[in-house]
Amino acid sequence: MDADLLILNATQLLTCASPDGPKRGAALADAGLIEEGAIACLAGQIVAVGTTDEILAQIDDPDAALVIDAQGKVVTPGFVDPHTHALWAGDRASEFELRIAGATYLEIMQAGGGIMNTVRATRAATLDDLIAQTLPRLDTMLMHGTTTAEIKTGYGLDTATELKMLDAIRLLDGEHPMDLVPTFLGAHAVPAEYSGRTDAYVDLVVNEMLPAIADLHYRIESPDGESTIRAADFCDVFCEVGAFDVAQSRRILLAAQELGLGLKIHADEFEPLGGTALAAELGAVSADHLVCTTDAQLQALAASDTIAVSLPGTPFGLAHVHYTAARRLIELGGALALASDLNPGTSWCESMQIIIALACRYLKLTPAETINAATINAAHALSLGKYLGSLETGKQADILVLDIPDYRHLGYRYGTNLVETVIKRGVVV
Ligand code: NIG
Ligand code: FE
Repeated sequence: MDADLLILNATQLLTCASPDGPKRGAALADAGLIEEGAIACLAGQIVAVGTTDEILAQIDDPDAALVIDAQGKVVTPGFVDPHTHALWAGDRASEFELRIAGATYLEIMQAGGGIMNTVRATRAATLDDLIAQTLPRLDTMLMHGTTTAEIKTGYGLDTATELKMLDAIRLLDGEHPMDLVPTFLGAHAVPAEYSGRTDAYVDLVVNEMLPAIADLHYRIESPDGESTIRAADFCDVFCEVGAFDVAQSRRILLAAQELGLGLKIHADEFEPLGGTALAAELGAVSADHLVCTTDAQLQALAASDTIAVSLPGTPFGLAHVHYTAARRLIELGGALALASDLNPGTSWCESMQIIIALACRYLKLTPAETINAATINAAHALSLGKYLGSLETGKQADILVLDIPDYRHLGYRYGTNLVETVIKRGVVV
């Protein structure tokens, strides 16, 4: 067998393999540990995974490959971050101080700040400026091990700026090593000019924005020729008191589904409004946040194909004390994923390692559970589980080498970068 990249002698290699879909229930605890592990890649794909002895026996000419010696180190799949608002202009440092002084996130939003603050800065930014402000964040994500990330729009809230955000995501995807998955979040907040007229804004989203986005395709050139991709893979809604209620969310998501977009929902972040049951009802790809979801809705979610995405950086960022009832969800057989929610309001955190550390403490997950939730299950939260998220033959070679002797140091340690080498599509970045 040929290989152009070999990682050998890993003290521990975690495959996170799950050939039959996301890891549910007790399966989440099994990260597919191989001691003295190795992996062979060719042309950006994984061609073999096993022990170092097994892999060396299969490779015709090991000297033809770039060899990374992972002795004393841990090898895992690249992290997948399936929920971010990584594209924005400006910052909200002044709101951080208001919150320290006691103002709540929803109070700041209702007073015209919050998301609307970032919307004003994002509308004012040129496309180039928006890209320039975002690139360093993507670099930081990659350096900390994120090899694929979703990015939402939602800081435009008018058709032109929402489209500008999609253009920016497409351009960033082209120039950055990370794979970026675009989500349309026109229903992130009711913009100031529609204040008190939420249904009229929902009309705009359904009648103008969604058709424009469904129509928009980008041309991409690759060695195999030219093809087109759609501007957005998913449509998301902030289903929350002060944003969009369940009926408005259903209307937007049904319209998006009709246009062929996958569905996501910001559900039950601050109030148990019912977004989680709606996600299960509509067959959404994921339901995200799930901080105050009722047990009946968790049961509906666990029984569905919808992935539960928990974002522990958000309650931590807001200094709240409630987190997703992750143990209950796992006990019910649900499929749990983790994401950063990277955004300027509630969770400016580029590192999935920090998210893993928070999930161990506040979601009561073991390190193995968090690693599966941040890789294979996170890939399923983007409908990419067939192509990436685990170290299995045939998958994209997105791989991390961590400078730790035991995988449980992920979660246990926090605040420093434990990732030594990031490999994206078989290339060391
Ligand atoms: O997921 N809650 C809505 N959206 C983000 C916050 C975005 C912002 O405040 O800018 C979230 O927490
Ligand atoms: Fe979010």
